[in-house]
Amino acid sequence: MMDAPVLIYDSGVGGLTVLREARVLMPARRFVYIADDAAFPVGAWEERALAAHIVGLFGELIEAHRPAAAVIACNTASTAVLADLRAAFPKTPFVGTVPAIKPAAERTRSGLVSVLATPGTVKRQYTRDLIGEWASKCHVRLVGSDRLAPLAETYMRDGFVDEEAVRAEIAPCFVERDGLRTDIVVLACTHYPFLVNRMRKTAPWPVDWLDPAEAIARRLLTVLDGAPAVSGRRDVPDSAIFTSGKAHFTVARLMQGFGLQLAQRP
Ligand code: DGL
Repeated sequence: MMDAPVLIYDSGVGGLTVLREARVLMPARRFVYIADDAAFPVGAWEERALAAHIVGLFGELIEAHRPAAAVIACNTASTAVLADLRAAFPKTPFVGTVPAIKPAAERTRSGLVSVLATPGTVKRQYTRDLIGEWASKCHVRLVGSDRLAPLAETYMRDGFVDEEAVRAEIAPCFVERDGLRTDIVVLACTHYPFLVNRMRKTAPWPVDWLDPAEAIARRLLTVLDGAPAVSGRRDVPDSAIFTSGKAHFTVARLMQGFGLQLAQRP
């Protein structure tokens, strides 16, 4: 019997930061990675249009894969569509990725926290509500970047990153106020952990870069608790589906490196 897979959705390579943590915790689980490259960058989409697009896509994916659960490994998508997905597909458990504002507020010493995200995530009411609920005692700066996700894509495919561009994009995260400095930057886009070493290198001072991938994987494990993976499933490889149907050979190589076999959209 083939076990029900877990779907991991992102607009591109960002969700791989979550997949790698999920595999550490659930080595026997089968994963189907969905790179919605036809919609990249989702950070530039209007919220309602993005939600409608993703609900439509999941109708197709759930029908074809009958997943045990789905991870929306993308902050921009999660903050727009999680509630709609749960309402449309009540039998499928969804795990979302939302800006790690609560842990940042708990950990900061200076009280100055920055949230680095796509322009879409920064605009969302969902993000503002998280700040109101968990970080009202902090000074939170929202920094929207439309360049970092494409820079992470290029870096992962071609191994090249423009460090000066990274420096310029992260610069607004660094705030000095009354002798205090920003001490935590929330990586609120799943693409960004791939660039974190360049961010450390180009940052004006050291900060804690918060990557929520492990916490998301733990949440998935909790959600799947009642549904253990069928053991001995390694004869069925994990797969990756690109919604455009046109993955460049550098992407195919990258996916192979992550143990994902390219598959066609159903
Ligand atoms: N990886 C996505 C996120 O976590 C954003 C990338 C995009 O704009 O498509 O927000």
